[in-house]
Amino acid sequence: MAVAGTVDLVIRGGTVYDGTGAPGTRADVAVRGDRVVAVGAVAERGAEELDARGLAVAPGFVDVHSHDDLAVLLHPEMDFKVLQGVTSDVVGNCGSGVVPFEAGLRRFRRLHPDADPPRWEGFGGYLERVDEARPSCNVAVLMGHGSLRYGAMGLEQRAPVAAELDRMKAWVREGVAAGAVGLSTGLIYEPGRYARTDEIVALARELDGPAGGLYASHMRNEADGLLDAVRETIRIGEEAGVPVQISHHKASGRNNWGRVRDSLRLIDEARARGVDVTADQYPYVAGSTSLFAVIQNGAFRSDSPGGLGQLAAADVLVASAPAHPEWEGQTLAALASSWRLDDEAAAKRVVEAEGEACFVVVFTMDEADVKTVMAHPTTMIGSDGVPAGGKPHPRLYGCFARVLGHYVREAKVLDLATAIHRMTGMSARKFQLADRGEVRPGAFADLVVFDPARIDDVATYAAPRQAPAGIRSVYVNGVAVARDGRHTGARPGRGLRRGRA
Ligand code: ZN
Ligand code: CU
Repeated sequence: MAVAGTVDLVIRGGTVYDGTGAPGTRADVAVRGDRVVAVGAVAERGAEELDARGLAVAPGFVDVHSHDDLAVLLHPEMDFKVLQGVTSDVVGNCGSGVVPFEAGLRRFRRLHPDADPPRWEGFGGYLERVDEARPSCNVAVLMGHGSLRYGAMGLEQRAPVAAELDRMKAWVREGVAAGAVGLSTGLIYEPGRYARTDEIVALARELDGPAGGLYASHMRNEADGLLDAVRETIRIGEEAGVPVQISHHKASGRNNWGRVRDSLRLIDEARARGVDVTADQYPYVAGSTSLFAVIQNGAFRSDSPGGLGQLAAADVLVASAPAHPEWEGQTLAALASSWRLDDEAAAKRVVEAEGEACFVVVFTMDEADVKTVMAHPTTMIGSDGVPAGGKPHPRLYGCFARVLGHYVREAKVLDLATAIHRMTGMSARKFQLADRGEVRPGAFADLVVFDPARIDDVATYAAPRQAPAGIRSVYVNGVAVARDGRHTGARPGRGLRRGRA
């Protein structure tokens, strides 16, 4: 195959998985500037040549579920993402968003206590800040409902009055025009949990319908009330006429294990009547959230467990405790016994000392459920990584490599082409990242080259800040950001506007 003009990069002789789910084929990939220009047998020599024989060549991974809104500005090298092959990062999940500025900053100071970023106005202003920061990966933004609600009405535990709802709607309209990819809610969190269904429908109606942004939800309940929560989420999408994304699909709490079969059936039924419902998942049996929210949801009470289900202190690991880093990596049970306190009292002592900056890892899921959800065709991969603390959940560094190593190669839950599709083409299509998520002429040259026989997550709960093994090279917009597990220092990422190349 002849390519007219010069070629900057040829990735030669690898097995190309194009991101559509099609099986891999042996081919060269030629890149000029920020785009792929040829896939096939490429005769021309590139200014850079990469020998990919024996390796897989895939679209760069799209992390559809992140909380990196401020991290991309404060730590633009984003090593924990690009070293695992992530080339586009969707921030603003679980209702935590960057607009209005003060509400967003208040929320994200839980992850970055000293953050003092330059101000922005609206989602358009935020995306401009991303462009100025030049992060190493691309960034798309969801509009976090919790921040909008806080900005409009603080922590009021009631429905918004007309003027408050109008303010939230105006922020959503601004975000839609600026290229935000959708609206997210976090309905176990303050203040999202005070919103009724009709408030969310009213805001989702501003998303411009089926071709517009999507509605993504950390649902009101992932435990005893899982099925009602899935019904509510689907209903919001159906009434507002927008696509739906169920965040971190799971069944939480031992007494709910196995219920993902029913939640998947609800998704299938909704799809059969024409609702565009999909979900994302991180490949672990533990979740991670703020300890404040764990207490607020009654997780240590047997009589009134809420959206997280019931938890014992032995199932809770401290991930971040900026005022007491010596607690990080310890179970709440160990702290409780050293203080001679019961579970909830120990948790409250930690929150008294740390405020809302304490994040924990919570072991709530069943491995069989993780596999059932992953095997289902409506599931894509999203890390839900929380970039904070000394012992963050290992998904922050290991999510995508763990799917390809543990679940594809070892457990054989998915074949490689399907797994890649669920972290690239499927994700880019749903989140409307134009010309991304596929390897084809004309697409952006976001690429990852890895060894399918060796790729593996290295990050563990005890030592989570470790990059995966087996990833040879990662390119963002045609520029190498990682080689052999090392960051190159390059920062070619961009703010992504919905549907625009
Ligand atoms: Zn969440
Ligand atoms: Cu999340």
